[in-house]
Order: sequence, then structure tokens, then C-alpha cells
Amino acid sequence: MCGIIGYSGNRQARDVVLSGLKRLEYRGYDSAGIVVGNGSIQLVKDKGGMANLESILPEMKGQYGIGHTRWATHGPPLKNNSHPHLDCNEELALVHNGIIENNMALREELIERGHTFKSETDSEVIVHILEELYDGNLEDAMLKTVAKLEGSFALAAIHAKENGKIVGVRNISPLVVGVGKKENFLASDVPAILEYTDRMIYLLDGEIVTLTRDEVKIMNFEGKPVARNWQKVEMNLEGAEKSGYEHFMLKEIFEQPDVIMDTFIGANLNAENGYSINLRPDTIKIIACGTSYHAGYVGKYMFEEFAHVPTTVDIASEYRFSSATNSNPLIIGISQSGETSDTLAALRTAQKRGFNTLGIVNIVGSTLTREADNIFYTRAGLEVGVAATKTYITQLIALLTLAIKVGVAKKTLGIDEARHLSNQLRKLPKHVRTVLDNSEQIIEISRGISDSKSMFFLGRNMNFPVALEGALKMKEISYIHAEGYPGGELKHGPLALVTEDTPVIAIAVKDQTYEKMLGNIGEVSARGATVIGIGTEGDTELPKYADHVIFIPKVPPLFTPVLVSVVMQLLAYHVANVRGCEIDKPRNLAKSVTVE
Ligand code: AGP
Ligand code: GLU
Repeated sequence: MCGIIGYSGNRQARDVVLSGLKRLEYRGYDSAGIVVGNGSIQLVKDKGGMANLESILPEMKGQYGIGHTRWATHGPPLKNNSHPHLDCNEELALVHNGIIENNMALREELIERGHTFKSETDSEVIVHILEELYDGNLEDAMLKTVAKLEGSFALAAIHAKENGKIVGVRNISPLVVGVGKKENFLASDVPAILEYTDRMIYLLDGEIVTLTRDEVKIMNFEGKPVARNWQKVEMNLEGAEKSGYEHFMLKEIFEQPDVIMDTFIGANLNAENGYSINLRPDTIKIIACGTSYHAGYVGKYMFEEFAHVPTTVDIASEYRFSSATNSNPLIIGISQSGETSDTLAALRTAQKRGFNTLGIVNIVGSTLTREADNIFYTRAGLEVGVAATKTYITQLIALLTLAIKVGVAKKTLGIDEARHLSNQLRKLPKHVRTVLDNSEQIIEISRGISDSKSMFFLGRNMNFPVALEGALKMKEISYIHAEGYPGGELKHGPLALVTEDTPVIAIAVKDQTYEKMLGNIGEVSARGATVIGIGTEGDTELPKYADHVIFIPKVPPLFTPVLVSVVMQLLAYHVANVRGCEIDKPRNLAKSVTVE
């Protein structure tokens, strides 16, 4: 996690690094820091986010510098653990994104050789190794240093005496070079530097870049020069503004009708990496984390229903330890960021097992888009809120589209049926708008449950993973404990926790699970729980069972997860808002999780 930025040029580095860090803050906000070089090293860092750093940042003169926003893995979010870290002589400064796995052994050796550590981070070992190996040239020292490191790391370093030079390294954690006119940039992602340049070089794993005001030089970990041209990035920063909404999350929820359509239309432009997707698999394995995993779980029902292909869904960090039993599989990795370490590692495992991989990804140019054999882009645009909303909805659209394609290829779905489904899909944005228009009712209900300590979310079949996602959304932004369960499973244990203080959100849309869900609602009502039912418009029965009912428009069963999820997002958002939570940046979380 964490954001890295570097600048060398004619401007004041302080200002460029500061503005870049603000755009990177979504990657981590435990602490932040900046160093500017000017014959000596000027360092300012503190725990907390960018607002705090900015408030304490003095004038700093100098035209090269690096900065960092941290998401702590080793050592609590305190000032001394903030990056940049300095060597013993305070001439070298370094920022790190990732984890150094052999840091304990390295630290012991360095301490034995007389180095003094100021932090508990794994990162600080790197700057002391650099110090030992430094002999007047930073990139030479870096080349020798990376050979000693195990783990994932994106690095940026400067030396007080090497005016205007920044050395960056990429190994698993992302890093991109921005090429300007008489200035150059380094950043964890493109939006951080897009206001200055749209010419980017995506570093690859195992590469070291040396940049100065006038030059960008890249070499690999063997020290061999690598030739690389910049590419122009088509992206605008407008998407990064809140457009009048109180929070990015709310703005992103309201963008969903548009991005559903963009993703649906874009589906035919996908399949970018040249291989053709295996549309006639015998099995499908979906791999992802968090919300993307929930999207994948809904996808399982889509593939099984439309294409009759047995589909399993694995949490990425678990897949790696499973045995490869699939035959003629389609392996699908889902990640909005395309940088989630666990997902990348799982897909690499799949590739090692000889399987082709398909990535469903939102961020163009992200690591996953370069590693997967095929790519299906969700076209959600930049998502700033840490809680995934529009990217998740577009993942559902991508999966629906794919499942229909596989169904047609496997002849389990007739052309007419597929066309009918596509026509229904085109109407989904309108139905999402109907749900969004019902915000007032959802706000009212949210007020009534915002004091709860615990909640349950119930659903069955394709709406079971939607219950999981509803609970995750509630947990991450409102800090209320919430659990998602299949409706039928509650009585096997968790029912013991249900009282009048545990609201239950029950998905009871008109599908084959409807009657059973009414039964489950009866079970929790009998224990005094307030039930918020989510039902299909026109249903007169559900209001007799539930205390409140939020209706969604009638759509084919496999499309209901999209509409129910929007209700869940609004519910979580408004509960969190009533509670005054930091909605866009929930505590302990970061937008993209680039550590394992
Ligand atoms: C979603 O609200 C979460 N912030 C988180 O679970 C996220 O979905 C997960 O970390 C996976 O991220 P990815 O889609 O970028 O791989
Ligand atoms: N492992 C480093 C730390 O704990 C870097 C974490 C990050 O990527 O922000 O400080």
C-alpha cells in the first residue's frame, strides 16, 4: 500500500510532491512525509494524513524531492515510523511501499555493524544498506542493495550530494515514471502526476530508474540498461473531484447508472492481450479479495445458470495454497485496482500451473492488466472512496456479460435468449436510478438503525454473496459489526445472537428463494429483531413480515444483485454518515492493498 512520489525539475519540489501526495492519500494515511534535497536533506514527516502534514510543512527550497503516505505494516503509525527514512549520516533519504520479508535478519546484522535505527519499520533497513554500499553513485548502491532484499518493494531514494537525482525501484509494488519537459516524476500511480504530464513509463518488476531533470535511465536488477518509450495516458482528473457530493462514495454510488452502460458497451472492446478467451471451459475458477470476491461469488451463479459450467470462487490469499484440480478451466481474477498483491500472486500461481488467466480490472495499465493473458476492463472510471461501489457494480456487469457469452458459446443459451438478456441489461441503468431516487426512505431507515452494535444481512442463492457484501460495506465505513449469512444457515448457530438490538437486513426478492426467505424473516422477528426487507415492487406479502420494506424494480433474478447491492451501499453510506464516520477513508484500510 502507501503512495510514493518523486520530482526533479525546475519547480520547487516541495509543492509538486505535496500535490501528488494529496492525490495518493487514498493509498494510505497513517502518516506522511517529504524530503527535499538542496546540498543537504530537509525532512518533514508526521503521523496522520495530508491535512496534518500540510499544516506543519514549512517553506522548503530545492528542486528534487520524494514523498510518502503510509499504510503501516511494521510498526504503529507514529512519527518515527513515518517515511522518508534517513541513513545514519542523514545524507540519504528513502521511501518504501511494500514489505521487506528478511528485514529482521538484515536489521540484526546492521545493528551489529554499528547502525542506529530510529524506527520499527521493515523499510529502514534499506536506507542503512544503501549507506554501507554508497560510493558516490546512488544507482550503483541501489543495484547492490536490491540484491539483498526479499519481499515486495517500490522504492524512491535521494542523496544530499547528488543534486537533482532520484533513484526508483520496482519489485512487485507499483511505480510509474512521468516524463515531462525539463522535469521528471515518479509515482505509485498515474493520477498523482497527471496534472503535470500525461507521458508515462510503467516500470516492470526488477527495474531501477534513475531520473534527473533532463534524463530518465532504466536498468534491470542485473545492471543492464533497458530501453523504454513513454506512452500517452488518456485519463482526466475531473473524475477525482467530488462534483458537489458530500463524499466521493456518494458521488460514486450515483455514477453507477452511467458506468454500467460504459462497461456493457465496452465489453466488445475488451480481450486486449492478444490471446482469445476460453469461452468453452469445463470449469471456472474465480479468484479475488474483498468486494471483488463478492462480485465473483455472484458471478458463480451467473456462470452456472447461463452456461452450466461448475464454478468455484476462491479468496486470492487462499487459492495459492490449494491444489490444482481444475480441468480445462477458465481462471478469472477480479480486481478493481489491478494491484492487489494477493490476487496478483494467486494469478501467477495459476499461470505456473499452466492455466490461461482472464483479469477483470478497472485501472488501465495496472500490474494485473500486464500480467493476465486476457483483460476485461470494467469502465467505472477512477474510484476514490476506499469502499468499492461503482467498481463492484461494473464487475457484476462484466460477469453478466461474460456469462452470457460463455452460455452462447456452450450453446446452453440460445441467441434469442442472449439477446433478450442483453436488452434487459440495457435497462438496468434506469432501474438503478429508481433505487437511487428512493434515497429518502433509505436515509429514514438508516437513522433508525445507526445506533446498533451488530447487524445481520441475510440472502439466499445469488443474493447470499450480496448479503456478504452488504455486511462488508456496513463494517468498513460505519464500524458496526455486521455479518452476512445464507438465510437458512442462521438457525444453525448465529440465531443465538439475534435480539431486539440486532437489526436484520433480509433480501426477499421474488425468485425461487422467496418463500424460504419469508420463513427466515419470521424466525428473526420472533426473536424481536427489527427486519428491513428488500423486496420486489408490487409485493404485498413482504410488508406483513418485515418492519420496513425497500422495493427494487422487477428484473430477471440474476440481475437483482445489482439493484439490491445499490440499496446496501446507500444503507451503509447513510448509517455511516449519521454516525459521523470518515466515509471515504475508513480507519485501518487503504484503497489498494499491495502487501500480502
Ligand atoms: C472494498 O470496499 C474494499 N475496500 C476491499 O475489500 C477491496 O474490494 C479489496 O481490497 C480488493 O481490491 P481490488 O478489487 O482492488 O483487488
Ligand atoms: N512496510 C512499510 C512500513 O510499514 C511500508 C508500508 C507501506 O507500503 O506503506 O512502513
